[in-house]
Amino acid sequence: MKKIVVALDGNSGCGKSSTAKVLARRLKFIYIDTGAMYRAVTLFFIKNKVDIKNDLDVEQALKEVDISFVYNIESGKNETFLNGKNVEAEIRGMEVSNMVSPVSEISRVRKKLVEQQRRLGEGNNVVMDGRDIGTVVFPHADLKIFMTADLEVRAQRRQKELKEQGVEVPLTEVIDNLRNRDVIDSSRKDSPLRQAPDAHVVDTSLLTFDQQVEHILRLIEEKVCIE
Ligand code: DC
Repeated sequence: MKKIVVALDGNSGCGKSSTAKVLARRLKFIYIDTGAMYRAVTLFFIKNKVDIKNDLDVEQALKEVDISFVYNIESGKNETFLNGKNVEAEIRGMEVSNMVSPVSEISRVRKKLVEQQRRLGEGNNVVMDGRDIGTVVFPHADLKIFMTADLEVRAQRRQKELKEQGVEVPLTEVIDNLRNRDVIDSSRKDSPLRQAPDAHVVDTSLLTFDQQVEHILRLIEEKVCIE
């Protein structure tokens, strides 16, 4: 039977990951959070003081990076492991958030992660979220969604998420982080954040979380006629 790929791209903080997680659970698909992979590489670079301007340093460091996902039965979530260590909480902090876009600009990093993303997607029904899934990783995805939302709304949601994890960050700092990442992610040379011409745009600014999930679920059902 043909396997289905749902690509979910869009700006930072518009709820892609939370939406993708619920969609995957409802559809019994595998969920792959590609942002977590860029975050894990960034954490490794920070910890190992890798000079991201030095090609050789980056190449050597990438050989030492092994990223995997392990399903946690208790939390019901896929958690990110870097070289065998659970880094799920650490990769969500502001230190990684502030470095992840420059690291994601590096072509060597993208090449390694895109190869792994294609392998993870192969032969499975998947919901994959990121910035270049519908344009680069799976340009023939069965359904492409491009999510967006107002900057301020995104920042408020992200701030609330961080607060729930016990991290207090001023709203202005979250806004600056999201704005900077939007600029870098959209203007980088390799695989910039772009809406694929055949993507459905979903603006979530005025939608509740449940509404955005139901809306996308309907699009998936219409498009791929899942029983
Ligand atoms: O989805 P996220 O906010 O966790 O992603 C973190 C960063 O990773 C984002 O600012 C850009 C980068 N990224 C990317 O370049 N390509 C992807 N497919 C996913 C994320």
